[in-house]
Amino acid sequence: MRKKIVAGNWKMNKSHDESVKLVNETLQLLANENIGDTIVIFSPPFTALERVGSLIHNRKNIFSAAQNCYWEKSGAYTGEISTTMIKATGASYVIIGHSERRQYFNETNEQLALKVNAVMAEGLTPIFCCGEPLDVREASKHEQLVEEQIRKGIFQLTKDEIAQVVIAYEPVWAIGTGKVATDEEAQQMHAFIRKLIATEYGNEAAENTSILYGGSCKPSNAKGLFSQPDIDGGLIGGASLVAADFVGIMKSF
Ligand code: PGA
Repeated sequence: MRKKIVAGNWKMNKSHDESVKLVNETLQLLANENIGDTIVIFSPPFTALERVGSLIHNRKNIFSAAQNCYWEKSGAYTGEISTTMIKATGASYVIIGHSERRQYFNETNEQLALKVNAVMAEGLTPIFCCGEPLDVREASKHEQLVEEQIRKGIFQLTKDEIAQVVIAYEPVWAIGTGKVATDEEAQQMHAFIRKLIATEYGNEAAENTSILYGGSCKPSNAKGLFSQPDIDGGLIGGASLVAADFVGIMKSF
């Protein structure tokens, strides 16, 4: 059974104290809501990951995620954070291959595959991001590009492993721009991604894979997106920094 997931990606926002405040506000609002089996994920900066982990410890269906990792376990890699360190904070997920990492830090598909492998080896779950920039969509090459990102980033995994991966489709032109993909555009790509998995790993694996949409998702458009048959939730940037908006999105299934 694939899971419904709403994951907040805070990016480089929120100090340690601000992170505590935002999680507490969100949990307080959630206490008055019934969001069923939806899984909620907070992804604060590394500096707040342990504290956030302790605030949500043992809460049903609420988890924390790192926004990045390095693939080596330890050693002389100044500035990097390993999956072992991430796991020790209590985190369960790691976002891999966000378009900002690909664009500003030149992360390649090959490096992302190493990161995905390291995350899996640690018993954590990757939230693997894919998505095309505007010029690629305008040239109608978006399916081709996303297929390449997925094949090179996660198709080294076994059939058992692949069904544990969470995929986030985030068209780069919709991230932080206020320009959301239409329900149909998003559904079309999600169905395409699920078909890729089915062709490579079989229908069961494809049916069990959660595929999230990301890019200017907010309470006002989440319902339309989440009602699409192949959209299993969202990876939320800006709106996850406002507790009421983030909870509003969780209520949109
Ligand atoms: P946004 O970001 O919701 O602010 O567009 C989404 C993301 O980058 O994960």
